[in-house]
Amino acid sequence: MPQLIDAFARKFYYLRLSVTDVCNFRCTYCLPDGYRPNGNSNKSFLSLDEIRRVTHAFAELGTEKVRLTGGEPSLRRDFVDIIAAVRSHRQIRTLAVTTNGYRLERDIAGWRDAGLTALNVSVDSLDPRQFQLITGQDKFRQVMAGIDAAFTAGFSKVKVNTVLMRNVNDIHLHSFLAWIKTRPIQLRFIELMETGDGGDLFRTRHISGDTIRRQLIPMGWQLQPRGRSDGPALVFRHPDYQGEIGLIMPYAKDFCASCNRLRVSATGNLHLCLFGEDGIPLRDLLGEDRALELLKERISGGLRLKKQTHFLHEGNTGSTRNLSFIGG
Ligand code: GTP
Ligand code: 5AD
Ligand code: SF4
Repeated sequence: MPQLIDAFARKFYYLRLSVTDVCNFRCTYCLPDGYRPNGNSNKSFLSLDEIRRVTHAFAELGTEKVRLTGGEPSLRRDFVDIIAAVRSHRQIRTLAVTTNGYRLERDIAGWRDAGLTALNVSVDSLDPRQFQLITGQDKFRQVMAGIDAAFTAGFSKVKVNTVLMRNVNDIHLHSFLAWIKTRPIQLRFIELMETGDGGDLFRTRHISGDTIRRQLIPMGWQLQPRGRSDGPALVFRHPDYQGEIGLIMPYAKDFCASCNRLRVSATGNLHLCLFGEDGIPLRDLLGEDRALELLKERISGGLRLKKQTHFLHEGNTGSTRNLSFIGG
């Protein structure tokens, strides 16, 4: 089986595919003014056939895990068909989605039946009012019901993303810990990242994930080893808790050393990093099955351009307008 390997000997088994830029939430750190179709969204999003071709090309290059992102991926009317199309390649054993959870309760069983194997849901606060202030949507109860529905549908674990914000949710660590005490949830605190138009929020709210780590260690939480297609989180476990805590710290100096993922945007550009580049167009090769070999060559050739790190720790800020464009 061929492998995708870059100039720094990193191997890539994991593809994050955005299926839409559109989102119905207005998270303060992502789309504070709501979704507006401009810039990159002039073009239509990849069709079902284009999604099948691009993910199957990656599968033939060794990809084992695909994550569907957005925007809010479940806003695609053909989302169930997308799941089935990606899973129709037998090499893709893990198919995950990152969602804001607003339709989870209704849809999760259908997604499971179509082939979804893993689920990440964003929950930035356990207080309904604060949840609404952060996301612009009064949907806390629906999202919680959605997570419960996922367990009922047979998911043995759910990952929850919490963007860490100073004096907003960092002060509620104990509530988050109480929540996961009896639930198989991996709760991941993600360091707030600076996006092109999020400078002010970043300056007032960014706080290092290390502040959480320093509280966890004395409580008996222990760092776990990392698997080859795992995400970037440092994962901690505690014998008294069913859940786990993850820390995603992109500003840590060695964060990129373990990078194992590539991204494709909703309009079909290959992005080698979340930050700092325009992407390599793939869409002209996605129109027909017979371009498969050319597509694979463009992907593996493009990978040679991947840089060693995003250099965020050296003051280079993200140039993405927001993470909804490239799917986080
Ligand atoms: P799993 O651990 O496999 O579930 O994957 P994941 O953590 O990558 O998935 P998810 O979409 O839930 O990612 C959570 C967030 O982590 C993303 O939305 C980003 O904000 C951040 N993140 C994920 N990958 C990267 C990366 O390569 N670089 C940076 N800077 N941030 C990332
Ligand atoms: N900083 C950190 N995480 C972010 N996300 C979106 N924007 C940012 C940002 N500026 C995360 C959300 C969501 C995931 C898709 O991306 O938590 O879970
Ligand atoms: Fe939508 Fe996710 Fe961005 Fe929130 S973080 S606005 S849910 S894409």
